Amino acid sequence: MNHFLDIHKTDPTDLRSMIDHAKQMKTARNGRPRGTPDDELPLTGHMVALIFEKPSTRTRVSFDVGVRQMGGQTMVLSGNDMQLGHGETIADTARVMSRYVDLIMIRTFDETVLTEMAEYATVPVINGLTDRTHPCQIMADVMTFEEHRGPIAGKKVVWTGDGNNVCASFLHAAGQFGFDLTFTGPEVLDPEQEFVDLARSKGVDIRIERDPFKAVDGADLVVADTWVSMHDAQSARERRHNLLRPYQVNDDLMAHAKSDALFMHCLPAHREEEATSSVMDGPSSVIFDEAENRLHAQKAIMRWCLGV
Ligand code: CP
Ligand code: NVA
Repeated sequence: MNHFLDIHKTDPTDLRSMIDHAKQMKTARNGRPRGTPDDELPLTGHMVALIFEKPSTRTRVSFDVGVRQMGGQTMVLSGNDMQLGHGETIADTARVMSRYVDLIMIRTFDETVLTEMAEYATVPVINGLTDRTHPCQIMADVMTFEEHRGPIAGKKVVWTGDGNNVCASFLHAAGQFGFDLTFTGPEVLDPEQEFVDLARSKGVDIRIERDPFKAVDGADLVVADTWVSMHDAQSARERRHNLLRPYQVNDDLMAHAKSDALFMHCLPAHREEEATSSVMDGPSSVIFDEAENRLHAQKAIMRWCLGV
């Protein structure tokens, strides 16, 4: 069963073929993300359940559109409206859903919900973000980098701010795609050591640098994300902002990276907090390409999961 649970749990050859397939499908659409159906409709007759226990714009819309472009049908479910949110076990939910649908995408809090869903489902399960990781996002980000700058292997990526779920998937991708990653942020928000060690064990250069200006020296890509994630307590907001303010990505910081460095943000962004509008809307920014590539990358992920 091809579940897509995390980047480090997926074979690097499969990851590479998904990225290549996504690029092919994007090219075949002649630059149009919308409108014309794909020549092939490999998901004809397939029903895909999209379960959300947290808010979403990009994941929800890009999966929904992606399935429809490939001839399948979707049902978007809010975790809260399901019995899952009212005491039914994940295992029972997984077994029941598997009798109705061909593929399950779930966005949830605790990653054990995802892994338990995958354990008991008899259809493939895709991770649409948990508190710990966000692999679909990073597949789109790798694709986006390579569209603009060629192979990502050997490049230097700098993650700024909170060592959160998206950062974790970037660390997983560093190991699997062979790029170096420097984290710059306050020590209390460092990424989990497990993610750092795993990437290092794959032979890539993973550094922690407290000074954001030193960190971006030689960077091919600078990445920011929100300072307060959906799973973070709102009561921690002010403290996080105070800790993270020195790590804002602004024109001054970007000027210390390589002259052709790209800027990425998975969105949604809080403009003038983790990144300024001058950077987000500036010449280095590829944030809307990232958002579009969620669509193409996830189509390839779904086809890999279903073997179609
Ligand atoms: N980047 C991302 O996953 O966005 P959504 O929360 O809007 O899905
Ligand atoms: N780190 C953010 C990513 C949102 C797509 C969060 O988990 O809220």
